[in-house]
Amino acid sequence: MIEEMKRKAGEKAAEYIKDGMVVGLGTGSTVKYTILKLGEMVRNGLEIVGVPTSRRTEELARSLGIKLGDLNDYDSIDITVDGADEVDEKLNLIKGGGGALLREKMIAYASKYEVIVVDERKVKEFLGEFPLPVEIVKFGYRRTLRNLESLGCRAELRMKDGEIYITDNGNYIVDCKFGKIEEPEKLEREIDRIPGVVEIGLFINLANEVIVGKKDGIEIMRKS
Ligand code: A5P
Repeated sequence: MIEEMKRKAGEKAAEYIKDGMVVGLGTGSTVKYTILKLGEMVRNGLEIVGVPTSRRTEELARSLGIKLGDLNDYDSIDITVDGADEVDEKLNLIKGGGGALLREKMIAYASKYEVIVVDERKVKEFLGEFPLPVEIVKFGYRRTLRNLESLGCRAELRMKDGEIYITDNGNYIVDCKFGKIEEPEKLEREIDRIPGVVEIGLFINLANEVIVGKKDGIEIMRKS
């Protein structure tokens, strides 16, 4: 059922992609359905250039024959489709559950239109139930972790298969359990002031539209 909700949202977003577009390709198990659909559309003649937000997405897109480009080569990206871990009513997001938040944020910032695809479990009144991912440099990481905790969260260094998780950019991720985040913009500014922080998984005012896959169809949330 959850997979079906993800598929509905992911495939709907593929309908937004037209010939000649430069398309930011997000990361995760929901946007995977958009990318698979785009692969099919490319085989049927669609001409696009994809700008991937992670190595994982790059490999998937390449395997499907989607032409790929580099963020440096374009003044802007026409549209980006990406997933999210949480979405609130103002379309603010928590992202980074898959560890790709830095490239995702850079590509979102460069995009004229950012479409987010999620299943209905991720729409919340407040952000923060999902631990906020923060990408940090390796140097002095224990100190950075303590600095993050001083903002009122429980901070855990992300691990994978018994090793410290390393991002595509060679950094670490700290997952910060804040609970209800009442003022996401303020929190983003506070975290940003900590030396050693590279990027924060709060995406404020970056999404233009959220496609929500539901049990009984699709809901589109747009910026009011
Ligand atoms: C990747 O770093 C994340 O921002 C993903 O976009 C997010 O975790 C959503 O992934 P799923 O669609 O797999 O839940």
